[in-house]
Amino acid sequence: MSPTAPHDDADPELEHLLALYTQPRPEGRLQVELCMVASLDGTISVGGRSGPLGDPADHAVLGALRRHAGLILVGAGTIRAEAYGPVDEGVTMAIVTRTGNLDPTAPVFRDGRAWAIAPASATIPDGIAVLRCGDDDVDIVDAVSRLHEIAPQARFIHAEGGAVLNGELIAADLVDVVNLTLSGHTAAGPGPRVAMNATEVLHRFTPEHSVTRNSMLFTRWRRHRD
Ligand SMILES: NC(=O)c1ccc[n+]([C@@H]2O[C@H](COP(=O)([O-])OP(=O)(O)OC[C@H]3O[C@@H](n4cnc5c(N)ncnc54)[C@H](OP(=O)(O)O)[C@@H]3O)[C@@H](O)[C@H]2O)c1
Repeated sequence: MSPTAPHDDADPELEHLLALYTQPRPEGRLQVELCMVASLDGTISVGGRSGPLGDPADHAVLGALRRHAGLILVGAGTIRAEAYGPVDEGVTMAIVTRTGNLDPTAPVFRDGRAWAIAPASATIPDGIAVLRCGDDDVDIVDAVSRLHEIAPQARFIHAEGGAVLNGELIAADLVDVVNLTLSGHTAAGPGPRVAMNATEVLHRFTPEHSVTRNSMLFTRWRRHRD
């Protein structure tokens, strides 16, 4: 996944699609929205990257969600796997890490908009701002409840993977919305699925939209906790 600039060419169908993701969000607690692209056979990466699964419309949706949220939550594994560029103005990126294995010279840290979210035990490289949550692990419930401290502009938390972080968010029942794009590919192979965690939990979501464009199916699902 790579950040994308707003698109320029008139494309009413794409505008309609993007509008589905940029509606106002509830006031108060920031809702957590998982955003992933997956193959028909359930993998989220091919050759270790999500890029082969995406297309221009998927990238446009990703960019729109990032800008509308103003806050991206992502695992350090994804940062190390994907070539993340600089973070857009008005957006804060929160990178969850236990080891502090982050490269402060990477483009994602260039403008000071990317923070490490790390436990007290982690050594974070100089030059990377850090929000401390937890002692030896990031307490993900605490972290999610405190992200507004580093991103007061946020409308919601756009969580974009990967599988390990998603698994923790789901196991803790923190996910309010799943923005899942099904890519018209199969891949087999050893790639991870959308979420992986030692704890198995079954949570119910109901569909809010499903839109087909080219060989992609864009879906949005909302959690019902009652
Ligand atoms: N298709 C898609 O939409 C999509 C989106 C995103 C990613 N991906 C793919 O997903 C893969 C990466 O996923 P992944 O599961 O390996 O990695 P990940 O979930 O992005 O990151 C895992 C890392 O996050 C940190 N972490 C997670 N929970 C933590 C906690 N409670 N406390 C402290 N640190 C914690 C640890 O970082 P440290 O190791 O630094 O301690 C851990 O190794 C890549 O292949 C990427 O291409 C696909």
